[in-house]
Amino acid sequence: MPSLDSDARQLRLLIDGVADHAIYLLDPEGYLRSWNTGGERIKGYTAEEVIGTHFSRFYTPEDAANGAPARGLRIAREEGRFTAEGWRVRKDGSRFHASVVIDPILEGGELIGYAKVTRDTTERFQHEERLGVARDALLQSQKLEAIGKLTLGLAHDFNNLLNIVINSLELVEHYTLEPKAKRHLQGAMRAAERGALLTRQLLTFGKGHALIAERHAVGRIIGEAMDTLRRACRAGVTLEAHLAEDLPEIDVDREHLEAALLNLVSNSRDAMPGGGHIAITASLRDCAPPHATDQPASRFVCIEVSDDGEGIATEDLVRVFEPFFTTKDIGKGSGLGLSQVFGFARQSGGFAELKSAPGAGTTVSVCLPVSRESE
Ligand SMILES: Nc1ncnc2c1ncn2[C@@H]1O[C@H](COP(=O)(O)OP(=O)(O)OP(=O)(O)O)[C@@H](O)[C@H]1O
Ligand SMILES: [Mg+2]
Repeated sequence: MPSLDSDARQLRLLIDGVADHAIYLLDPEGYLRSWNTGGERIKGYTAEEVIGTHFSRFYTPEDAANGAPARGLRIAREEGRFTAEGWRVRKDGSRFHASVVIDPILEGGELIGYAKVTRDTTERFQHEERLGVARDALLQSQKLEAIGKLTLGLAHDFNNLLNIVINSLELVEHYTLEPKAKRHLQGAMRAAERGALLTRQLLTFGKGHALIAERHAVGRIIGEAMDTLRRACRAGVTLEAHLAEDLPEIDVDREHLEAALLNLVSNSRDAMPGGGHIAITASLRDCAPPHATDQPASRFVCIEVSDDGEGIATEDLVRVFEPFFTTKDIGKGSGLGLSQVFGFARQSGGFAELKSAPGAGTTVSVCLPVSRESE
């Protein structure tokens, strides 16, 4: 009857019993001298396939080329231990995230090999990565909320002041017949109206502007806005809409949706000074909002505006929804377009997302909730 009496047998059974760690011995040059069940399970090779071969076969070609395997052995030898996390390759070519420890084995002060333990940490790594993304989204959303509150107070006061200016200018214009003075007055009025428009956008971002939501078919709103949107594009910029059929109607503030579309199309146009293509699509998406991933998935009509323009620098990506963030020259952009889009989407119970990379175009999605009864 098999027993646990021999030390060597006990050790063998112990090492083989650890199925979630690859535990094996290397000779001083890095060739495999033993293998366990964990190694077979994690990396996919049987003992016959790997014993006698060099352990660098488990590294990615990039790491093998930059000398990572030899470096690991050297650090273990010189410092008494080497630990690392990184990507390794299975027999079938797929990659897994590994936590690795290499210990030198010494006998009478002389190096006779290495003990290597590798653990598959892919799941933990992916979980942490997902957590990181959710945390970033939450921080970003909290930052925008705070800026929104700050902006709101200012925008209210400013809006009231501008209304007084506009009313007074209208009155003065009424009493003035002198043509030159009239022209100046009209210039002042246009500037004040532009200011009022900006404060209205700020109010949307800061949730100080009540939305008037009514049941609409998004496809129709986009269809009817196409003429205005095309006029906003310069020569060489084409604009097309592809809308999924049978989209449910949603409760939305039409005026704000039109303003959001105009803001997005204007941004795309500005990103394509040499011409290009803008596509507007609308489709259904079932998901949890990215700022509240713990919420159950629900249904959204997602309107996407994509361009093949210059894209956005990675360091700017986290800032583009902030009010007043602009990379445009003074007088060219006020940095409020995307904050209006963001504020409008969030106030409508949905969310806005932006994907972009330098040189690879930009896609902004405005996702608006589908109310239960219209599903
Ligand atoms: N489609 C896009 N392609 C490339 N960059 C973009 C795009 N959309 C936005 N951006 C970048 O994000 C910044 C902020 O956009 P936002 O619409 O908020 O402000 P703006 O366009 O600069 O000014 P405003 O819209 O108030 O006139 C832009 O200055 C630009 O750098
Ligand atoms: Mg803009």
